[in-house]
Amino acid sequence: MYSLEIKNVTKKFVTAKKELLVAVNDVSFAIEQGKIHGLLGPNGAGKSTLIGMISAMQAADKGVIEVEGIDVGARPTDVKKMLGVVPQEIVVEMPFTVEEVLYYYAGMYGVPERERGERIREVLTELDLIGKLKDRARNLSGGMKRRLMIAKAIVHKPKFLILDEPTAGVDVSLRQKIWALVRRLNAEGTTILFTTHYLEEAEQLCESITLIDHGRVIKNGKLKDIQQEFSKNVIHFELFDRAVAHMAGVIEVGSDYEFPMTDLGDDLARLTTYYKGNIKSIRSESASLEQIFLKLTNSPNV
Ligand SMILES: Nc1ncnc2c1ncn2[C@@H]1O[C@H](COP(=O)(O)OP(=O)(O)OP(=O)(O)O)[C@@H](O)[C@H]1O
Ligand SMILES: [Mg+2]
Repeated sequence: MYSLEIKNVTKKFVTAKKELLVAVNDVSFAIEQGKIHGLLGPNGAGKSTLIGMISAMQAADKGVIEVEGIDVGARPTDVKKMLGVVPQEIVVEMPFTVEEVLYYYAGMYGVPERERGERIREVLTELDLIGKLKDRARNLSGGMKRRLMIAKAIVHKPKFLILDEPTAGVDVSLRQKIWALVRRLNAEGTTILFTTHYLEEAEQLCESITLIDHGRVIKNGKLKDIQQEFSKNVIHFELFDRAVAHMAGVIEVGSDYEFPMTDLGDDLARLTTYYKGNIKSIRSESASLEQIFLKLTNSPNV
């Protein structure tokens, strides 16, 4: 069962210059229930537009989006109830206190009245914002407003949580809190979709990713499979004693040596037999998400 299925979705805008911009171009992908999925791509790729359509904030021009099997276009209110969304832009209800904002959201999303106070305390404690319970939203710092937005999105324990660049511009401690929160919610069964420009973050958290550029999906799948596809197929090793005759095919790269790999097991066995106790370290290379990203998008803008 999928938490999200996007089928051939297109969204066009008319720009200020009266030109047609295809922000999302025939996008299809799906996320299985209970997964953490990364939506990646350079600035302007179409990520937030896609999130706007998943969360029923804007309508698709073409295609179908289903959240937990429910068509967003046909039943937007039912979909909204299952979702928690943290948008990219900071939007908080400035005149109200943190407690009032969360009380309102908890009520809107059906948290029973007697449970609301406790739920609010729980999420604020986890996000380290409990000390600001009675403060007005307008008086919070930027990072605290971001915490309040996350609290709003999770106070009703959504089945599916969407975070649009939750860690952009936040301090190290908040970033770690957000990671911990994402992992905890996921362990409790929440499916998570998030966007980030920090690729090491995607590597840490996601099992699968969709990479989009200029509105199109350019890669989709399990992160491990994608890394394998792009891995350089070489074995790197270091030697204690460098003054030895080398095995055929071995090349020197700085202080390391490289050997083109055809079969990891066989090649490792051949190298270790040949060099015996002379091998100081040995590893096969797996491409980083950053290398893959740059290669596929030709974009230095990560
Ligand atoms: N309401 C709109 N009217 C016109 N153009 C829009 C509108 N919303 C988005 N766009 C354009 O659609 C494209 C995709 O924007 P989007 O916000 O989805 O990108 P993104 O992938 O989220 O980028 P970022 O990483 O910078 O957040 C951009 O060129 C943007 O200018
Ligand atoms: Mg965006």
